[in-house]
Amino acid sequence: MLAYIHYKTEFTQFIVESHRDTPENNPSVPFEFTPENLKRAETIIAKYPPQYKKAAVIPLLHLAQRQFGWTSISVMNYVAKFLEIPPMRVYEVATFYTMFNREPVGKYFLQLCTTTPCQLCGSTEILKTIENHLGIKVGQTTPDNLFTLVEVECAGACVNAPVLTVNDDYYEDLTKETTIKILDSLKNGIIPKLGPQTGRHTCEPKGGLTSLTTEPYGPTFGIRSDL
Ligand code: FES
Repeated sequence: MLAYIHYKTEFTQFIVESHRDTPENNPSVPFEFTPENLKRAETIIAKYPPQYKKAAVIPLLHLAQRQFGWTSISVMNYVAKFLEIPPMRVYEVATFYTMFNREPVGKYFLQLCTTTPCQLCGSTEILKTIENHLGIKVGQTTPDNLFTLVEVECAGACVNAPVLTVNDDYYEDLTKETTIKILDSLKNGIIPKLGPQTGRHTCEPKGGLTSLTTEPYGPTFGIRSDL
């Protein structure tokens, strides 16, 4: 068993995490970069002075997670070996940042934002809708391994709250109905239209444009004609 201790200043508390070997998550499960990712990893490392290549730990873990699907102990050990640093240096990073999934996730990784702006715009109802529609709770994966649901802090798209991220894609301005539609499309292997689900363009005001509604002035606007 490996144990990691983090001191998280923002919460002023210690968090103790541990790893226990399981059949799918143990150091003997093989992992190495594909030839394409090997090239990418070398390009990433080349951005740092040779004596500081350990600074590439986050982008390399990210790359490895994209390849493997999640960040297993083998993935962390491989990254440590790749960067020639003790494995603990990688465990410390991977267990601190919640973006690294240390358990397998479904094909569609659903990250629902439930921070204040999204909550004020109805994320609690969206959360219940997802849980009821998929029959899972936060932190769980559907038995067919299609969906994993997690709650996250601000996804950085508050103006289009409530927001759900599916893998790398954003779905915004959600309602109960549009959420169900998105989940059903994904179940059928169809990627729904990204972005706001209300029809508004990106993050323009919901009621349409309120400024910059006329043609922009030409380059000589306001300049005396005799100049
Ligand atoms: S609070 Fe949900 S995207 Fe910012």
